[in-house]
Amino acid sequence: MRVNYYIMVFCLVFGIFANIYVIVKLNIGFSIFELFQKIQEAKQTPKCEIDVDNLLNFIENRHFLELQEKELKELGTTYDNPDGRTVQTMMFAISAGLGNKLFEVISLLGIAETLQRNPVMNATNAEYIRVLSQSLQPVFPKLVEQFDLRIIPYPSVTHQQTNWGACCRFDDPRKFINRTEQHLMLDGHYFQSYKYFDHIRPQVRQWLAPNKTDNYTYIKKPNGTAYNYSIPTVSPKYTTVLTPTLTPEIDLAFSRLFCDVTLITAPSSTFGWWLSYLAKRNAKTYYRDIVESKDGVLHEMRQEDFYPPSWTKLWTDPSGSIRKS
Ligand SMILES: *[C@@H]1O[C@H](CO)[C@@H](O)[C@H](O)[C@H]1NC(C)=O
Ligand SMILES: *[C@@H]1O[C@H](CO)[C@@H](O)[C@H](O)[C@H]1NC(C)=O
Ligand SMILES: *[C@@H]1O[C@H](CO)[C@@H](O)[C@H](O)[C@H]1NC(C)=O
Ligand SMILES: *[C@@H]1O[C@H](CO)[C@@H](O)[C@H](O)[C@H]1NC(C)=O
Ligand SMILES: *[C@@H]1O[C@H](CO)[C@@H](O)[C@H](O)[C@H]1NC(C)=O
Ligand SMILES: *[C@@H]1O[C@H](CO)[C@@H](O)[C@H](O)[C@H]1NC(C)=O
Repeated sequence: MRVNYYIMVFCLVFGIFANIYVIVKLNIGFSIFELFQKIQEAKQTPKCEIDVDNLLNFIENRHFLELQEKELKELGTTYDNPDGRTVQTMMFAISAGLGNKLFEVISLLGIAETLQRNPVMNATNAEYIRVLSQSLQPVFPKLVEQFDLRIIPYPSVTHQQTNWGACCRFDDPRKFINRTEQHLMLDGHYFQSYKYFDHIRPQVRQWLAPNKTDNYTYIKKPNGTAYNYSIPTVSPKYTTVLTPTLTPEIDLAFSRLFCDVTLITAPSSTFGWWLSYLAKRNAKTYYRDIVESKDGVLHEMRQEDFYPPSWTKLWTDPSGSIRKS
């Protein structure tokens, strides 16, 4: 590889911190990186190369428009069902991290599409309004336009439990498809399954597209010296690009534009999940086996509901080598 011309990109997703590393040189050492190198050599993944100029343009905020994905054609956005039936969910995790917020909000949109109802948020709930206006609107203005903010009198709303008590098990909303009540409220928690919204994935990617006018200058250039981070001592020698301010929207924009491969090391990280789901269109994703990580979320998760089938699980064999399943 000619390092002068290309940077190899894949993105390590470290749970809540979600730093993204651009890897220029990948040698030996740390078995997970070795595995990646083999995968690259076997050409089983998209070529992990980008033009350095593109990266620098992004960092310097020069030609952001040119970097925007071609996939962004206008798609139908809001649901306008003539009978005006609505659906809401409890928005249990709306105040948690961005990954959790996105699961609840995007799942509501997917469920609304499935049920052919208009997605509604309770306009009298101060917390919803605060999160929408302060957290989501500045980052994803198109997303917020997908909801109706309404005041619906409590007695006219029919409550129904679904996705109750566990984060990551799909509870198929199609069982409510023949319900005739005008206003349906689905009481449930987290809604962390791609199955709620994967059928509208192109729209989801559009609603969550990076804001062109954001300022990305504080992403550090490769081999810049202004930042400090720790690289495991056993890992290969590589140069990194880091988003040191840790603003999620910058991480998402970076992943979207540059990540050919993502690796989720914290298997229940919802933000890592979104970084991967929203990475480059044909990006490959690998994730650590949640059984091995002894993550407490395991007992609330049905893995086939949480991880899309195109993602690859990595596990450790008895000899300690990391393998694809
Ligand atoms: C909307 O939110 C307010 C404030 O939290 C609450 O009192 C009201 O019952 C909610 N309305 C519905 C229909 O859930
Ligand atoms: C909804 O109604 C259709 C048509 O009557 C029926 O075929 C279908 O099984 C019903 N679905 C559910 C989940 O009740
Ligand atoms: C995009 O980001 C800029 C700067 O952070 C902000 O002023 C603007 O409101 C955001 N939204 C849109 C739609 O540009
Ligand atoms: C972006 O941020 C950098 C560093 O904070 C600042 O120097 C620069 O003027 C900003 N650019 C724009 C267009 O806001
Ligand atoms: C930074 O990287 C470039 C390109 O790989 C290289 O030419 C340059 O010498 C490096 N600078 C430092 C200070 O390492
Ligand atoms: C970088 O971080 C390491 C570990 O926290 C610390 O030992 C080191 O002094 C730091 N270096 C600089 C230049 O801040």
